[in-house]
Amino acid sequence: MAKHIYDAIVLGAGGAGLMCAATAGQRGRRVLLLDHAAAPGRKILISGGGRCNFTNLGVAPERFLSANPHFAKSALSRYSAQDFIALVDRYGIAWHEKTLGQLFCDGSAKQIVDMLRTECEAGAVEMALGAPVTDVGHADGMFRVAHGGRTVQAPALVIATGGPSIPKLGATGIAYDLARRFGLRVIEPRPALVPLTLSGEEALFRSLSGVSAAVVTRCGKAAFREAALFTHRGLSGPAILQISSYWYPGKAIGIDFLPEREPGWLLAAKRDRPRANVQQILAATMPDRLAAALAERLNLPGKVADQRDRALAAAEQRLSDWPFHPNGTEGFAKAEVTVGGIATAGLSSRTMAARTVPGLYAVGEAVDVTGWLGGYNFQWAWASGRAAGEAI
Ligand code: FDA
Repeated sequence: MAKHIYDAIVLGAGGAGLMCAATAGQRGRRVLLLDHAAAPGRKILISGGGRCNFTNLGVAPERFLSANPHFAKSALSRYSAQDFIALVDRYGIAWHEKTLGQLFCDGSAKQIVDMLRTECEAGAVEMALGAPVTDVGHADGMFRVAHGGRTVQAPALVIATGGPSIPKLGATGIAYDLARRFGLRVIEPRPALVPLTLSGEEALFRSLSGVSAAVVTRCGKAAFREAALFTHRGLSGPAILQISSYWYPGKAIGIDFLPEREPGWLLAAKRDRPRANVQQILAATMPDRLAAALAERLNLPGKVADQRDRALAAAEQRLSDWPFHPNGTEGFAKAEVTVGGIATAGLSSRTMAARTVPGLYAVGEAVDVTGWLGGYNFQWAWASGRAAGEAI
């Protein structure tokens, strides 16, 4: 039995678990890293189109969603994007900035997984992969985990099993089951960074499937200037994925289809191109099919010279904040991440330790901290994993 005793058991060999295990191991802790997947870092491997958008130069606490917007500050400030870049550089992994501060490997995401594996080896982390966790217990200050036909134990247990997004990649909600079992609250998880679906009258926009445009999307106070894409189910593209994290059923989102235009541009177009129609004017700055669909809905047939100024001002207003009423999302099957999760109120922001259960920690996507699209979620995985790894 004694040989199955560790200083810490880390459940989940994703980005957060690997970083946590490597950090604790390199501090001399005996760490066991468990996963039901046969290999670590599956989401890292497929991330960023196979090149892993591993961090973002614009990391700032306000780019993360959480019931407590201050919670992520401590871990993010103690392990920054620059710290991860320094690690990547130490391994000679070439990278580039794609757009909006997003950093990708020049080569392959596998380089990041290999790097983290090597970091774990440097900490003599033992990995036990490819078998389900069948039981987790806690008594006399020890956590006991049944996995792969044996029971292992340690005074510290780290929940690093992520959220339920993309079950076919091995994602489960075990983090929430464990948290609840240990008396921690869970903020209702919902799919985020996910395409939105349209129904009813708005479903007609699905005929634009494949059309994309540079827009600004808005929901409440959140706004993102990126590309939106019409799909056969509704709306996608980075601008929509970003705003989806802020969207709740029943809420509308607004799309500004002409974010570069100054107010009054349609009245100016009436002066400059009086013989053109609205569709032709729109088509100067957006794909023809989108221009046609929007013009049809604006219902201003004929030359723009024949339109009343008031009607043109109203059309301009609508084009700058076109309301869509999604009837849902494409769900966890398509969501890049999960909003919600283990409530931060029950955790220390410095160590990620549960306040009421000594030795229990939660890190990464399992926790109610969700980043924007663009490398923010991995930075949270690295930073929170590191914070727990330094505390164990
Ligand atoms: P993660 O989900 O990575 O790891 C959890 C681990 O726990 C997995 O290895 C899983 O097998 C294991 N596990 C789950 N249930 C278990 C159980 N019952 N028993 C045992 N083990 C269990 N982010 C970003 O910053 N840049 C990017 O480029 C991308 N790209 C991207 C693409 C796609 C398609 C997806 C789905 C997601 C992204 N993300 C991303 C998000 C990013 O992948 C995500 O935020 C992190 O992987 C979260 O890391 P964690 O370690 O917390 O969980």
